[in-house]
Amino acid sequence: MKFHIMTLFPEMIEQCLMSSITGRAADKGYISINAVNIRDYSTDKHHKVDDYTYGGGAGMLMQAQPIYDCFCAINDKIVSEGGKTPRVIYVTPQGRTFDQQMAADFACEEELVFLCGHYEGVDERVLEEIVTDYVSIGDYVLTGGELPAMVMIDAISRLVPGVLNNDESAMTESFNNSLLEYPQYSRPEEWRGKKVPPILLSGDHKKVDEWRLEQSIIRTKERRPDLYEKWLAENPPKPEKKKRRKRKVQEEEPND
Ligand code: ADE
Repeated sequence: MKFHIMTLFPEMIEQCLMSSITGRAADKGYISINAVNIRDYSTDKHHKVDDYTYGGGAGMLMQAQPIYDCFCAINDKIVSEGGKTPRVIYVTPQGRTFDQQMAADFACEEELVFLCGHYEGVDERVLEEIVTDYVSIGDYVLTGGELPAMVMIDAISRLVPGVLNNDESAMTESFNNSLLEYPQYSRPEEWRGKKVPPILLSGDHKKVDEWRLEQSIIRTKERRPDLYEKWLAENPPKPEKKKRRKRKVQEEEPND
């Protein structure tokens, strides 16, 4: 997966994403991070990238030209290497809220372009011209698009084959089946008077799995009732036991 990030702060992207798991994945070639400075594409003699908004109002707006030329340079390179024009994600509080399903969808792409806004926003005309997806990371406003873009890139990257090692990917994850992850414990068996639940020390894998599912359900119901309702709709309680008992009763009382 190749990520291209159009930004005014490429060093912010590089410093963050070239560390930890995404950094290792980039070193090994599972992903690549191409942070492109929009300012390099400004045709203004002072490399200006923003200007006042028509119609008045406070603040400056990112201009269309540097962003469009920056995108064209990225796209031309991709296309010249045999790729197709990539999806362009504009990170904005006005977008659809990012979730695990969206991360999985984006992870199927070969290349993705992110546009990080600043100041009061971006000239609408360039958005109309290049953006395919408007995505937010939540209902709050940040100072720029770099952090949301990095949040999304992190979540997408870990779904790219090879990025996580076996231990990391074997982890049962929150949201995988609409349930939050169960509580986990490591050594020691007792810490500050708190004991590890005995079932986890029993060695009975079936019982451990049952306990974990039960804990996931309890935790989801408590902390994320919205997710619990979704899970319940996907996993309605099975009516089977009742039916079997009914049949048994009929067998025992054939005259009824
Ligand atoms: N830019 C500023 N705030 C944002 C948010 N919440 N999500 C995505 N992009 C943003």
